[in-house]
Amino acid sequence: MTILVTGGAGFIGSNFVLEWFKDAATSDEAVVNLDALTYAGNAENLSALSGDARHIFVRGDICERALLDHLLSEHRPRAIVHFAAESHVDRSIHGPGVFIKTNVEGTFTLLEAARDYWNTLGGDDKAKFRFHHVSTDEVYGSLKPADPPFAETHPYEPNSPYSASKAASDHLVRAWHHTYDLPVVTTNCSNNYGPYHFPEKLIPLMIVNALAGKPLPVYGDGQQIRDWLYVTDHCSAIRAVLARGRLGETYNVGGWNEKANIDIARTICVLLDELRPDAAGSYTRLITYVKDRPGHDRRYAIDARKIERELGWRPAETFETGIRKTVAWYLEHSDWVGRVQSGAYREWLAKNYEIRQ
Ligand code: NAD
Ligand code: DAU
Repeated sequence: MTILVTGGAGFIGSNFVLEWFKDAATSDEAVVNLDALTYAGNAENLSALSGDARHIFVRGDICERALLDHLLSEHRPRAIVHFAAESHVDRSIHGPGVFIKTNVEGTFTLLEAARDYWNTLGGDDKAKFRFHHVSTDEVYGSLKPADPPFAETHPYEPNSPYSASKAASDHLVRAWHHTYDLPVVTTNCSNNYGPYHFPEKLIPLMIVNALAGKPLPVYGDGQQIRDWLYVTDHCSAIRAVLARGRLGETYNVGGWNEKANIDIARTICVLLDELRPDAAGSYTRLITYVKDRPGHDRRYAIDARKIERELGWRPAETFETGIRKTVAWYLEHSDWVGRVQSGAYREWLAKNYEIRQ
């Protein structure tokens, strides 16, 4: 048996593929990994699988229908797990076009290819096929301090070009199930962190900037709240939903870890003070408040009781264990960090942070 993964060279996708082959329940099953290798995709994340016949990497775009048709008819996967997306909110503010292209048009193209392929399947293969759409809690909008966390029934109120494009993709997936019976499941997850996280996002940016003695840019007042989930816990949640989730359902996935951004920055500094002390003093000296993100959502929080009740899933890591592992990973992988800090990465930092000073 085989699954098709899209975006499997990105942060979560590469962790998912690596974890897939570690889990005894799935390790025998091949993965066809389709990824365009945009700035966020990194084949090096998968170097442990080099020469492994279970992993077939294909560089390509989910917007290319002919390529999708070819891969589906050649490999005949029993499921598609769809990660490929543009994922960074700040980039969506600077340039929303590519978010509409990949997240909306790409998901549409993949759904159409999946539908045609699924219609060629018979009997058991057709009944067991799954299209798993990986989405985000940002589609629900922003919570006030005393609001209950997002349940699956929360209205969609996306506020950024990124979250609007993900919301659109969620609606397409829902409609393809409702109208064409395509067997879909969707997961809406909170903020992930862990190994291979590209250092444009808050946690890895704070770690790599601190180690370089650079400012740690905290947007606005730093009191925005996110729920944080260690990436391998997200991967295990996806495996659970793929295996046992009810068709057409959505499952919210979260870590029960609501933290303010300023507390994330301070926690990272305290860990670095312990693990890599700096002669110049505590890394907290580098924390710098900068101009806020336009339309910045104030708070996300996830009610993850449905996935626990129905599928018995709970995160294995606490924030304390996960963030310690993450900081240690970045300390041990300075080569990886150095290689992803390309010229394009430095241009992005200039574009996003110079205007905030
Ligand atoms: P990422 O930006 O690290 O990786 C995205 C991957 O998709 C990259 O490897 C990139 O090369 C690939 N890609 C982009 N456009 C493509 C295209 N047109 N065709 C094929 N491949 C393409 O993203 P991530 O953080 O790993 O997120 C993966 C998925 O999970 C996304 O759908 C995102 O919306 C969702 N998600 C992310 C988080 C998070 O905290 N990072 C939380 C919840 C949901
Ligand atoms: O909630 C899930 C989402 O989490 C995913 O769908 C997105 O793909 C993922 O990028 C993430 O979105 P956020 O915008 O929450 O993540 P980011 O790491 O960019 O920012 C986290 C918080 O930190 C947010 O409130 C903005 C703030 N921030 C971010 C950066 C990059 C800063 O204060 N300073 C920064 O330099």
